[in-house]
Amino acid sequence: MSEIKVRAVEPFSAEITVPGDKSISHRSVMFAALSNGVCEVNGFLASEDCLATVNALRALGVNIDFLNEERTSLRVQGVRGQFSAPNGPIDCGNSGTTMRLLSGILAAQPFSTQLTGDESLSRRPMRRIATPLEQMGAKVTGQGEQIMPPLTIQGTADIQAIDYDSPIASAQVKSAVLLAGMQGKGKTSVTEPSLSRDHTERMLKYLLVKLVREGNTISIWGDQVPESRDISVPGDISSAAFWVAATAGFPGSRLLVDNVGMNKTRVGILDALIKMGAQIRERLDESGCEPTGSIEVKGGELQGVEIGGEQIPTLIDEVPILAVAGAMAKGKTVIRDAAELRVKESDRISTVAENLRRMGVHVEEFADGMEITGGAKLQGATIESLGDHRIAMAFAIAGLRAKGETVIRGAECIETSYPGFADEIQQLISNTKS
Ligand code: S3P
Repeated sequence: MSEIKVRAVEPFSAEITVPGDKSISHRSVMFAALSNGVCEVNGFLASEDCLATVNALRALGVNIDFLNEERTSLRVQGVRGQFSAPNGPIDCGNSGTTMRLLSGILAAQPFSTQLTGDESLSRRPMRRIATPLEQMGAKVTGQGEQIMPPLTIQGTADIQAIDYDSPIASAQVKSAVLLAGMQGKGKTSVTEPSLSRDHTERMLKYLLVKLVREGNTISIWGDQVPESRDISVPGDISSAAFWVAATAGFPGSRLLVDNVGMNKTRVGILDALIKMGAQIRERLDESGCEPTGSIEVKGGELQGVEIGGEQIPTLIDEVPILAVAGAMAKGKTVIRDAAELRVKESDRISTVAENLRRMGVHVEEFADGMEITGGAKLQGATIESLGDHRIAMAFAIAGLRAKGETVIRGAECIETSYPGFADEIQQLISNTKS
């Protein structure tokens, strides 16, 4: 098991770019594979999660070539929605996005596929996608009440359109239903309680698929094959968030992040930090398939904040780093309506609460969130990532402001979303020790 050791640093000034967006990278290769020709993808995130998607598609008969050593550029030969049955189970690794979106594609393929995952993915609920996909005519079986992996998808060439009222705001559920619906007959609609990230809708539209949004309802028409086009992936706002939060609450520090995705359904962390008093300037450089821009941060004192309701889906992956920002802010930070965090790569409510306590922070845990009493000096501690990349990175950032050494155990999980993070944090520490 690999470890990262972190110490306090002095105020810093940095200009950075971050690797490609994870959500958009998964979609880029999946939708290119569904398309009617050759697509080149640039800015791809060559992390373990996204490489699991590449390997899964290869196992389904798709030709994918990497065009550079860093594996950020690749060429995908679309199969017009006609995949081949794999030779054996497909390993989705740690990646919920791979498993859930692929299930939507496989629901409409006339063969059976087994999808497996690592220990963490094998504990995650797949009932949320099994329910609508079964209503559409596929057969989805898994383990126990929550239909956990290994998952078997028996697809059908005769997918039926549905109007699905999703009980949760989940882009993975929405995408699975839309991907099945696009390959079926008639108009399929998904309504979510509040809007989750809309990368699927944007990218399918860019690939000339007919789809409309009315309020929180997205509708797609069947019998469609995406048109092959080149796809450019912006930097990942969820990766940038670690450095933005590290800077925002650190008087005297400055940061510029360039070429980062600024999709409104993803920038909730910036809005939350601004509400906490952070000095953040956002600039939109370009508005293509995905809005892209830069973020400038000037460090200062932060105040606690209350976050809940429709804000949650816009910062769902950033709650661990928001909680760390809350611990460093003055006053209380309250996070509510975030029960979904309990079924992420780890139970992020209990993992965050436990690790903050190890660093000397008072935290009260709720079923759907937590209350953090900020302002006390953080104490260096041994942190257990529990195999969760966002926990490992959030607490490495906390260690930059703590007294004494912080050790992040199980840091190898960072490779699932942010290869390079461990080197970058070590570089920051060796450039500026306090
Ligand atoms: C993702 C959606 C989110 C997010 C995950 C990636 C996606 O999950 O937590 O990291 O790419 O669609 P839900 O929308 O299911 O909450």
